[in-house]
Amino acid sequence: MKFFIDTANLDQIREAEALGVLDGVTTNPSLMAKEGITGEKNIIQHYVDICELVEGDVSAEVIAVDFEGMVKEGEALAALHPQIVVKIPMIEEGIKALKYFSDAGIKTNCTLVFSTGQALLAAKAGATYVSPFIGRLDDNSTDGLELIEDIRLVYDNYAYETEILAASVRHTMHIVNCAKIGADVMTGPLSAIKGLLNHPLTDIGLAKFLADHKKGN
Ligand code: G3P
Repeated sequence: MKFFIDTANLDQIREAEALGVLDGVTTNPSLMAKEGITGEKNIIQHYVDICELVEGDVSAEVIAVDFEGMVKEGEALAALHPQIVVKIPMIEEGIKALKYFSDAGIKTNCTLVFSTGQALLAAKAGATYVSPFIGRLDDNSTDGLELIEDIRLVYDNYAYETEILAASVRHTMHIVNCAKIGADVMTGPLSAIKGLLNHPLTDIGLAKFLADHKKGN
């Protein structure tokens, strides 16, 4: 499973990259605003800065909600850097834009996906990635992981190449469960990724090894 980090924070991206297990970055307008990145020029520069920090795909979201606007913005974003993936919302105009970019050989990430039917449409339109938001479903008493399972089933039935990118991942067990049910990618915060390191028996075991080594010397 590929690991993407879901942030626009350059320090956190650097830290995840230094671990050596990072495959890409996802951003969205809220994450950019959270880092205080505003204004078109700064936002564009920030995407380039992120691309220069990592080796993999970097999702950059369009703001337009009409087909022509999404195409114009998406083409400009894609021209910024070869690692840019154009993030398109799951709306009617977005489906048309996904098909346009797929035909043009530009990578896309279909965002704000909350149902299997939406994921089926995104795959048919040729999206590179589909982003079901599992944490936001969990917030609404709906099992986000069940959606990942259902999309996996449908995509496997027809060998769709669209990759399932589990998004709105909030904690470490989301990552583990996404891996168990076959999500292709997960995007989550650094805390959830680093949480995979934790086990008290590892800490206890290491402390004992080091203490025993000291005794013998
Ligand atoms: O990747 C989508 C993500 O940014 C949404 O996460 O935690 O705002 O639901 P969250």
